[in-house]
Amino acid sequence: MSALLFAPYSMRDLRLANRIVVSPMAQYSATEAGHATDWHLMHVGNLCVSGAGLVIMEATAVEPRGRVSPRCLGLWTDAQAEALRPVVEFCRSNGQAALGLQLAHAGRKGSVGRPWEGQETVPPGQGGWQPVSSCDLAYPGRPVPHMLSVEEMAALRDAYVAAARRADALGFDLIELHAAHGYLLNSFLSPLANRRNDAYGGDLAGRMRYVLEVFAAIRAAWPAHKPLGVRISATDWADGGWDADDSVALARALRTQGCDYVTASSGGISAAQRIDVRPGYQLPFARRIQQEAGMPAMAVGLLHEPDLAEQALQDGAAELIALGRGMMWEPRWAWHAAEALGAVADFPPQYARSHPSMRFGDPGRAYLRRG
Ligand SMILES: Cc1cc2nc3c(=O)[nH]c(=O)nc-3n(C[C@H](O)[C@H](O)[C@H](O)COP(=O)(O)O)c2cc1C
Repeated sequence: MSALLFAPYSMRDLRLANRIVVSPMAQYSATEAGHATDWHLMHVGNLCVSGAGLVIMEATAVEPRGRVSPRCLGLWTDAQAEALRPVVEFCRSNGQAALGLQLAHAGRKGSVGRPWEGQETVPPGQGGWQPVSSCDLAYPGRPVPHMLSVEEMAALRDAYVAAARRADALGFDLIELHAAHGYLLNSFLSPLANRRNDAYGGDLAGRMRYVLEVFAAIRAAWPAHKPLGVRISATDWADGGWDADDSVALARALRTQGCDYVTASSGGISAAQRIDVRPGYQLPFARRIQQEAGMPAMAVGLLHEPDLAEQALQDGAAELIALGRGMMWEPRWAWHAAEALGAVADFPPQYARSHPSMRFGDPGRAYLRRG
């Protein structure tokens, strides 16, 4: 049987050459104005010629308070869009991958330093800000967030839409809305973080309301031919938290609003989370979302063994396989997976002579394809 990992996949008018996705990964390498830098050109440019079918750029803030750190990428100004343009243009003219962008808001986990600098809280006045959240419940060890009013939530929804319009004008193929990992939209969904007693809190419908409103507003502004997906934390891994049943319910609701896929990640909302991390540990959530909600799932989380990734697709647990750390460690992962699975990966012609078969004089063209 031919490898599903290398079979094309279509969402709306976007045709991906294969099912391999580079998972969004914050680089904490923007300027303090939230502008992309040469790091992004190198990092994203490299991944666009990796043979993956889709590269989703990192969590990109829709307003200043939406950054995790003062060095996170933003798309709330036209100048930020201009700084991203060379990255998009490089990928357009050299890469075989489709290019997506993750729109994000860090919520109550924002205003911290970079991971390699300790991730301590950065106070207002020193480059930081007071974080915002669904309510004034702090993440342990972090400052008390400002609880967003309904008027502020409406303005923030408009900020998501404005960022989506900029992403469209830049030529991004896809948007992923970040509603996972304890960040703002996740803090509306989870009962562990949302203690509101208005229409945006309380029962499951109340907690989902803001996420669905933001999604609908972006969907209305984002071109109908371009796909829009959502990343969720499918479980909080903590007592009394959001769980897989809730995720199926959310995926069903998103499906009626024209969502193209849901990425099943997990955790990040509670310091009490207990996770048994091992290869494929989030796959059961993708499977339930796909099979019970009828929503195409993107699986993620320690899927860097080609056989495991392939099996997940063959089993119907997911339509797409996202890799994060495995791709940073080995940006040629797709080429090696193609060899392991007897498939064909996209290859930039400049690198064709690196293929083992070429090194020994065999043209090896069966392995190489210019996308
Ligand atoms: C350096 C780094 C940055 C990350 N940044 C993001 C991000 O911006 N948005 C997001 O949804 N997930 C982010 N993640 C999570 C990854 O996308 C992925 O879900 C996670 O690493 C698990 O997949 P893996 O085992 O293939 O790495 C990040 C992970 C790493 C290691």
